[in-house]
Amino acid sequence: MVRVELKGVLKEWEDFRLSIERLKVKDSEFLTLLGPSGCGKTTTLRMIAGFEKPERGEILFDGRPVNDLPPYERGIGIVFQDYALFPHMTVFKNIAFGLEMKGLPRAEIERRVRWALELVGLEGLENRYPEQLSGGQQQRVALARALVVEPDVLLLDEPLSNLDAKIRERLRGEIKRIQRELGITTVYVTHDQEEAMAVSDRIAVMNVGHVEQVGKPLELYYRPKTEFVARFLGLSNILELKAENGRACLGGLCFDVGREGKVRIFFRPESVYVRPGDAVEVLDYELLPGRIRLKLEIEGSVILAERFLDELPFGVEEMPERVDVEVRSFSVLEAE
Ligand SMILES: Nc1ncnc2c1ncn2[C@@H]1O[C@H](COP(=O)(O)OP(=O)(O)OP(=O)(O)O)[C@@H](O)[C@H]1O
Ligand SMILES: [Mg+2]
Repeated sequence: MVRVELKGVLKEWEDFRLSIERLKVKDSEFLTLLGPSGCGKTTTLRMIAGFEKPERGEILFDGRPVNDLPPYERGIGIVFQDYALFPHMTVFKNIAFGLEMKGLPRAEIERRVRWALELVGLEGLENRYPEQLSGGQQQRVALARALVVEPDVLLLDEPLSNLDAKIRERLRGEIKRIQRELGITTVYVTHDQEEAMAVSDRIAVMNVGHVEQVGKPLELYYRPKTEFVARFLGLSNILELKAENGRACLGGLCFDVGREGKVRIFFRPESVYVRPGDAVEVLDYELLPGRIRLKLEIEGSVILAERFLDELPFGVEEMPERVDVEVRSFSVLEAE
């Protein structure tokens, strides 16, 4: 398989500017572009595919610039949000289309289409038309069609967002399984942080027109560098404190930050442990399936704690008015 690199890439429209200094997708890696609507995910993917040309910069496959290659010469397979199947062709024909365009012999086409059908779990449905399939099945056809040409790079643009939650979860697991099995370098686009965490080797979090941070899912989740990444990936506690002698404290809650002056401390609600005591006030709580979310107040600052119900040191019915807290993992955000 190949590695994909974007170097100093710039794309400009009247009211939008996308600038990616450096983004690397390793050989056989599953990299996800994650970000809110309009941040430039699709544009980035379309530049890798060759449907969109950057004004400046290079797109490299295994170190070779592909800027001047049309999409069909880049060795890519692409899956879109809306499936984009040919309605007048059967499942078999839809999948075979790319191979027929390449002029492969009949027997070879047959063999490869059967392989792709099996890979995506569609055996037996090859003679149906797209309108006779569920959304999930149609997206499997689109996936088979992208894979059947044995691309070096698989590109997927929100392939699951038109499907309902159950199917979405099942199909994302299958996409991941197939990606691993084939070891195919993959760039996946989504605005769903849970989906990104579930499938990715690494995630590139995008904010309007640029990449904020790239890292492994848990690295981004627990050690975000910016407030944007922190908030985009889940519930966050962010405290603005002043550090003295390497420590920043809020009431009895202290963080060893190893620096002086203003700091912004970040931690997830599940890093906050509670036990009987009287340091902080319990303002409110909310039950979630199997968990509890507590709203706590320390010296005028509100923080969230989240625990599994069976690790609470007291019953929900006997919720105390005050508790002690301990934050077991935190990071210091970069200055904005
Ligand atoms: N062909 C185009 N001409 C002009 N502007 C465009 C074009 N394509 C995209 N844009 C603009 O570029 C910005 C980024 O669009 P893009 O489709 O890459 O975002 P996205 O992150 O994929 O969003 P979404 O999650 O909604 O799909 C938007 O402001 C969009 O309006
Ligand atoms: Mg998009």
